[in-house]
Amino acid sequence: MTPLHFLTGAELTPGELDALLDRAVELKAAPLASRALAGRSVALIFEKPSTRTRVSFEVGIGELGGHAVVLRSDELQLARGEALRDTALVLSRHVAAIGVRTGPDSIVQELAADSGVPIVNMLTARHHPCQALADLMTLREAYGSLEGLRVAYVGDGNNVARSLALLGALAGMHVSVASPAGYSLADDLTLPDGARGLVEHFVDPHDAVDGARAVYTDVWVSMGDEQGAAQRREALAAYRVDDALLDAAAPGAFAMHDLPAHPGEEITAEVLYGSRQRIWDQAENRRHAQKALLELLVEPA
Ligand code: CP
Ligand code: NVA
Repeated sequence: MTPLHFLTGAELTPGELDALLDRAVELKAAPLASRALAGRSVALIFEKPSTRTRVSFEVGIGELGGHAVVLRSDELQLARGEALRDTALVLSRHVAAIGVRTGPDSIVQELAADSGVPIVNMLTARHHPCQALADLMTLREAYGSLEGLRVAYVGDGNNVARSLALLGALAGMHVSVASPAGYSLADDLTLPDGARGLVEHFVDPHDAVDGARAVYTDVWVSMGDEQGAAQRREALAAYRVDDALLDAAAPGAFAMHDLPAHPGEEITAEVLYGSRQRIWDQAENRRHAQKALLELLVEPA
């Protein structure tokens, strides 16, 4: 049987996404209640650095009774030219799921084509769906239902923005994205079947935050974008999340950020460390949401 992979988040139905978020909230309240991975192992392949993703997966897998095998891609035979196909075929014989952080989306797609166990996208250049699960969980904790909830994303139309838009639309949210010309998602976003929400694109951040209950931002220079860093900082300079931008959003709106942050660039230190944010809750919720995801994806032994 073909395993259920999690490459973009569009693999989930709206009902599965709702149930996953409910389960994540349950697991947060009782972190050691599930033994869904007892005696099982999960491989986590990192081709790029990570703090939150690695720790939240590794600790979460342990809390589910499982064992995480963390693999740096430069230590694998992949680095010496072994085929992705062969890597997928061999790992599938040992582990119950494979998480991958890499650049091109084609890599997770190729692994998924040959893997007998679920492939989980732990960040690619275009998608970061595990982050979006934690983001939606954080919004649900704050506001209850996600249906019709208005959220703004301000900044680079990158992997984090795309996954927030895709999974937010799947959950019925209204996501307003503001990016400068050349950094927009507008021409490159296909909403999943069953998406009940809406994604709107703007240039002016004030247009996007109007009525928004949360204002999300991410780094201006993602991993792999370092060559154009100076140009990006210039283009995105007006897209900083600060108290004034939060004042222009709905009353009580809070800031969100997937981290790592660059205070003084995409967000001010006042907002990042102040009371008008749920950023550190988002970082915690990675673990709970991913545990619910692994429960859904991994077939019982
Ligand atoms: N937000 C996130 O994915 O953080 P890391 O790069 O530290 O894993
Ligand atoms: N957009 C960022 C997210 C880091 C978690 C990057 O890809 O580097």
